[in-house]
Amino acid sequence: MRIWALSDLHLSLDGDKPMDVFGDHWQNHHQQMAEAWDKVVADDDIVLTPGDFSWAKNTAHAVADFAWLAERPGSKILVKGNHDYWWPKTKTKLHEVLPEKTYALKKNACIVNGVGFFGARGGDFAPLTRYGDKRSQEDIDKALEKEQRELELSLNDLKQHEQNQATTLRICLFHYPPIPAGRKQSRFSSIIEESGAKFCIYGHLHGSESQAARIEAVINNVDYRCTSCDLLGFEPSLIFDTES
Ligand SMILES: [Fe+2]
Ligand SMILES: [Fe+2]
Repeated sequence: MRIWALSDLHLSLDGDKPMDVFGDHWQNHHQQMAEAWDKVVADDDIVLTPGDFSWAKNTAHAVADFAWLAERPGSKILVKGNHDYWWPKTKTKLHEVLPEKTYALKKNACIVNGVGFFGARGGDFAPLTRYGDKRSQEDIDKALEKEQRELELSLNDLKQHEQNQATTLRICLFHYPPIPAGRKQSRFSSIIEESGAKFCIYGHLHGSESQAARIEAVINNVDYRCTSCDLLGFEPSLIFDTES
């Protein structure tokens, strides 16, 4: 069984949000991703897609994007990104929209094929003043505190699941980079390290501008990898193979 990652799919199959405004390489990106995904991912594999799944403004408009996901092989695991406005408020509505073998994590966790998954959305560590961000550092810290609580709730939920079902590996999913640029730790990294997670898979960053914020490193035994689809050439990246 293999675990792959491809994040920030930014699908808009029921809308008119062309992604090629961000560069020609985004042209028909859903087709590029479908071809690459179908070629390498087997039915019993798992694909992690931590956030910014769809541009849909509400759940009804995300149906076509979920139909696209349902056609792809493997189990899929999502966390909520900052653009996932389609994400419904109740778990019942969330389960109605999710295709088979698809798990969406928010304050909860799941175990698939003996692997435990937990995570959170995360957030910016400082206001993005150069983009006109008007939030104060206090606003930011309050939002990060909420995300930290959600990460803890998710990990606690995983521990609950593990009382009935053993895991051989834990993987953390994050949407935002979990550590600020130029640093080696954050309020999130200590929780991730203590959990014993082998990987922390995140997305959110796009294009060459984002490179300064990217962490691709093993820090205190956690392997951090940014998996936004454009940074991976729209092909799933292999994270772990249980056979090897
Ligand atoms: Fe994104
Ligand atoms: Fe994002």
